[in-house]
Amino acid sequence: MNITVIGTGYVGLVCGSCLADLGHKVTCIDISISKIRALQEGKIPFFEPGLEEKIKKGVLNHKLNFTNSYKIGCKNNIFFLCLDTPSLKSGAADLSKVFSAVDSIIENISSDSIVINKSTVPLGTTKKIEKKFLKAKDYIIDVCSNPEFLREGTAIKDFMDPERIIIGSQSESVIRTMKKIYHPINKKRNKKIFMSVESAELTKYAANCFLATKISFMNEISILAETHGGNIHEIREGIGSDSRIGSSFLYAGLGFGGSCFPKDLKALIYEQKKLNLKPGLVENTLQINQRQLEVFYKKIAHFYKNQLSQTNLFIWGLSFKPNTDDIRESVAIKLIKKLSPKVNSLTLYDPLAIANSKKALSNLSNVKFTRNQYLNFHKANGLIICTETKDYADPIISELQKLKDKVIFDGRNILDKNKIEANNILYQGIGI
Ligand code: UDX
Repeated sequence: MNITVIGTGYVGLVCGSCLADLGHKVTCIDISISKIRALQEGKIPFFEPGLEEKIKKGVLNHKLNFTNSYKIGCKNNIFFLCLDTPSLKSGAADLSKVFSAVDSIIENISSDSIVINKSTVPLGTTKKIEKKFLKAKDYIIDVCSNPEFLREGTAIKDFMDPERIIIGSQSESVIRTMKKIYHPINKKRNKKIFMSVESAELTKYAANCFLATKISFMNEISILAETHGGNIHEIREGIGSDSRIGSSFLYAGLGFGGSCFPKDLKALIYEQKKLNLKPGLVENTLQINQRQLEVFYKKIAHFYKNQLSQTNLFIWGLSFKPNTDDIRESVAIKLIKKLSPKVNSLTLYDPLAIANSKKALSNLSNVKFTRNQYLNFHKANGLIICTETKDYADPIISELQKLKDKVIFDGRNILDKNKIEANNILYQGIGI
């Protein structure tokens, strides 16, 4: 099938390159001239495992191409909207890119079409898009909601082998087309769930808010465990073995970041208020997440007391989670901004996110970056771990022992506390 994907951000590039890999002929549009030029030259704007290979394969097989031109893109009659919807100050999602793409389609459309919305949008937006398309009087344009559930770091796998494909539409022709598009990844087991547009829009928010709530719940329990006694690892195992609860997304730590959870929670709270509904659980989830950073910062400050201003700290992990260079809403970056004015120096290590972090922290004079995970450990007072990167789980103990104060603040509970303490290193985790 001939498909146009609008937006070459995270979702758009993964969606476009994977659709091409499924055998469709895909045109990716973006209004950014430099972005499209770079993509045409084979340069990928961010790191995602497997994405570069997929894009190169698609281009080589003439299944994937990139353009700034809506005229070219509108030769197709199936469109995926993959525009970002960042938070406005009010918490509401900014829909300007989505609606501007809709306007461009209206100006250039050349046949009856189906528009599939993958952008995370407030309730009712799909219907609003449909109304706007009524302006394209000569053509019938069906709009459906098809939210994405990609996780950074495993996005290609999530697209090619999804647990479910949510399709919000009541139109027979849309349902037929969606079945054809996703047929190659739906052969072994049916993953498609058809529902109303409204349900599909809300399913996306509900999924992210629920996952975030699991994390905040564990973070709340971790504080109790720390105060009362108890070990959050044991508690996680204890409750996670109940199949009604499930064992994933129960890791206490510095809390969630990234481009989705914080933004989607804020947008849902905004929607609740707009509808005169009292925000409850989701608002608390967000507050607990913000508090988690404060709790961790206080732990460090309390340890050093009036020596804090003289300390030199080493930090592992800058991205919002492992296996990505994405630092959007990264808790590590927030912690660094908070610590920097209070300490003597910070040395920052990350396997992927140094370039992005340098830009974000350029105004801090006492931070330096290193690609050596153990650089001059004898000059550092302590180590702080901010991401659950697997490589951190098995550190070189003889290096850790060089730390002046022999202390580790483990913001992701990734280390084995007993092993660390057995080597005479102080360990401060979360809820243990
Ligand atoms: C998330 C959703 O998982 C995905 O379905 C949606 O499409 C986009 O948002 P992503 O932002 O890539 O994906 O990150 P995810 O793996 O969900 O992690 C989000 C944050 O939660 C990270 O900061 C991570 O460190 C944190 N986290 C995750 C925890 O603190 N504890 C956990 O148990 C799991």
